[in-house]
This record gives sequence, structure tokens and C-alpha cells, in this order.
Amino acid sequence: MIIPGAETQAFAAALAEAADERLGRVEYERFPDGEHVVRVPEAVAGERAVVVASTVDSDAHVQLLQLQDAAREAGASEVVTVIPYMGYARQDEAFQGGEPVSSRAIARAVSTGTDRVITVTPHEPAVCDFFTVPASSADAAEVLAAPLPADLDDPLFLSPDEGAIDLATTVRDAYGEGETDFFEKDRNYDSGEITITPGDAPIEGRDVVLADDIIATGSTMSESVAVLNDRDARRVFVTCVHPMLASGALTKLSAAGVEAVYGTDTLERVASEVSAAPVVAEKL
Ligand code: R5P
Repeated sequence: MIIPGAETQAFAAALAEAADERLGRVEYERFPDGEHVVRVPEAVAGERAVVVASTVDSDAHVQLLQLQDAAREAGASEVVTVIPYMGYARQDEAFQGGEPVSSRAIARAVSTGTDRVITVTPHEPAVCDFFTVPASSADAAEVLAAPLPADLDDPLFLSPDEGAIDLATTVRDAYGEGETDFFEKDRNYDSGEITITPGDAPIEGRDVVLADDIIATGSTMSESVAVLNDRDARRVFVTCVHPMLASGALTKLSAAGVEAVYGTDTLERVASEVSAAPVVAEKL
């Protein structure tokens, strides 16, 4: 039975369909002091329980732990935890003295309530090593090609930094044609300022598909779009696996004149155009 977190209901429904599993009903409530309580009213004894929750904020983290526990308490034979978007995954090292490795702390907590974990396109696949139960990641980049128009002109699939070049290449391969390249990105962690240095590929007159794992504040993508506009790209499409789109990111990108901004349903957003559920279903 698929057991959804409150923030991940659409993905869970898509996963239930893709994996041909029963979609369980969950009641989400709060006690008068604000603490969460969840209930899984349907019987799951002797059955595999698949808890599906993007840990999009601290509340979602708590609910995920509660759902795991509810499934165990109800006698599930196995608890699998699917985290379509893993919060804190980008804090995979202590960036300054005195900081925690947050993704490790979260992974350890999640591991206590499950037999195995599946994440989707984490910022660094090595984050799976932080779990103390078997953990793997499904790569959803391939589904990002589907919404692109069939008539892209001399397309360039571009990642805004070198770390995402494999992702851009996967999107290109799924699309079927085009060149790939990456920009160099430098982020000043004090000011938040991002500097983008273009790569070698010509831009003028071409359709460009920018691809990354996540759009958070949109700064990385909007700086990249500015470079592409300066170099007279024909059309710019902006895509990512996790459309977090915080801090007015969508407005920032729309104002920059991009053709489209879209991502998958690992996060439920207006830009969640395609489902990553089928690639996760293959790993269940
Ligand atoms: C970092 O390297 C990631 O791949 C993304 O490029 C980054 O997290 C996006 O963040 P933002 O949208 O805030 O620039």
C-alpha cells in the first residue's frame, strides 16, 4: 500500500498507478498545541507499506517519521520510504565551522523507521551513503524531455554548472538530438550573489534548454538566462527535476522572457509538468 505524506499526494497517486499498488488513505491532523498527528485507517498488516513523502519542510519531515511508525505499528511486513524531494540534501557538508552535515542527520533519522529508501535525483548521489539502511536514487532527468516542443532549432542542452552536465546530457538523450555544454558558476555564500561564466558552445539563434536538479531561489537560472539573452539565444526553456521555486523564482524567470519553466512532481508546484513516478516505480 502506498501511504502519502500531506505534501506529496499527487506524486503518491501517480506512483500508485505506475506501480499498480493500492493508494492508502491518510488523515492528517494537529493536536491543539500544533503538533502533528497522522492516521492510516486502512489495514496494512502483512503488506508492504510504501511511505511517500517529499521532505519539503520540517513539518513534512515529522509527518514522514510518523507515517513510517504508523505503518510499523499496523504490522506492515516491510516499510519502504520514497522521498521524491529530499530536503536538506544540499547541505551535504559542513560549509563553515560549527555547522552540521544536515543531510546526514536527516538520513539517519529517516533510516530508523524503514527497511530501505528511494530518493529522486539528489543534488549529490552520495547522499544515499548517509542512510543506515539500503538507499538508492532514481534519476528523473529523462522525463524532462517530454514537454519540449518537437521543433527545437539546433538545440543546446545546457547546465548552469558543471555538476549538472550529466543531467543535461540525459535530457538531450531523451529528446533525441542536440549539443550539450555547461556554464561555470560561482556562488558567494555571504552575499548570495552568483556569477556565471559561459562555456564554449555558440548561442546566437539557437534554442537553449537549461537543465538543473533544482530551482530554489531561481538565481542560478536567471543569471544563466541573462547570459543567454545577451548572446541572442532564440528561445530559452528552463527545466529542473525539483521545482522548489522559492522567493519569487517563477516571476524572476518569467520576467526574463523564458519560453517555459517546468519540472517534475517531486514537489507540487504550478510548474510540475511531468511525473517522476514512473522512474521511481521501476525501483520499488
Ligand atoms: C546547486 O549547485 C544546484 O544544482 C542548483 O543549481 C542550485 O541549488 C539552485 O539554487 P538557486 O535556484 O537558489 O540558484
